[in-house]
Amino acid sequence: MAAKIIDGKKVSDDIKAELKIKIESLRAEGIIPGLAAVLVGNNPASETYVNSKARACEKIGMYSEVFRRDASINHEELVEIVLGLNKRNDIDGILVQSPLPKHIDELAVTVLIDPKKDVDGFHPYNVGMLLLGQPIFQSCTPYGIVELMKRYNIDPSGKEVVILGRSNIVGKPLAAMLIQKQKGANATVTVCHSNTGNLREICRRADILIAAMGQAEFVKGDMVKEGAVVIDVGINRVVDSTLEKGYKLVGDVAFEECKLKASYITPVPGGVGPMTIAMLLSNTVISAERRLHKSR
Ligand code: GUN
Repeated sequence: MAAKIIDGKKVSDDIKAELKIKIESLRAEGIIPGLAAVLVGNNPASETYVNSKARACEKIGMYSEVFRRDASINHEELVEIVLGLNKRNDIDGILVQSPLPKHIDELAVTVLIDPKKDVDGFHPYNVGMLLLGQPIFQSCTPYGIVELMKRYNIDPSGKEVVILGRSNIVGKPLAAMLIQKQKGANATVTVCHSNTGNLREICRRADILIAAMGQAEFVKGDMVKEGAVVIDVGINRVVDSTLEKGYKLVGDVAFEECKLKASYITPVPGGVGPMTIAMLLSNTVISAERRLHKSR
């Protein structure tokens, strides 16, 4: 079977178009959704992410502000920025781009973000409430995966989902989302990690296989059940001297061989990646709507 390619770019564009309409309504009520991003140091990937987020905001009529600080910033200075943003009524969403420099305790900063402005869904309140099935905000990448499946009519209910990777940003929250007794979830979920013994065998059981462990082309064709849905969260740079930039981007899935087995598959780039920003914007617009209705 040759898989259908899940077009995350198209879905994210659809979501952004839907958000644009909501933003126009909010603007008519005098509210401009605002997102603040805090970027510490000069990690090139973080710079790219934050710039993309700011550009995406601008494109759909949202306000964004980026707080760039040197890697030498201390905890107190970072705290002051976050607490200041919590108080600002024009800021609906706050994100502190990860990773932070080693000397900063990331969790100690995250807990200071007002959970009602935690559009990344990283605050322990939102993580805990996610387990209980009622977070204020859901973490953007897993939320984007759930939304992507929904828009392709892929229903995880009753299915065997295998997630590779137990990160706080993807694997753990995605498992929590998909086990909920809710529409678009209700799956049987297995989370595999670096200490999983019979990983290949578990992968072959999956109706929906989600790779999020950050290893280039780890999932091979013989690990995919015929007709499975394969979702690739990985973005890895591998050397390719035939290209001018000297590298190419590949996912955690060996795309060419897995697409011969899967029913649906996400490409890299253009699959899950664009969904993360779309869901971040969506969370920020939801927060702005709560501001309008004074429920924040
Ligand atoms: N670093 C990598 N992905 C993310 C993200 O989604 N949010 C934040 N804040 N940092 C990240």
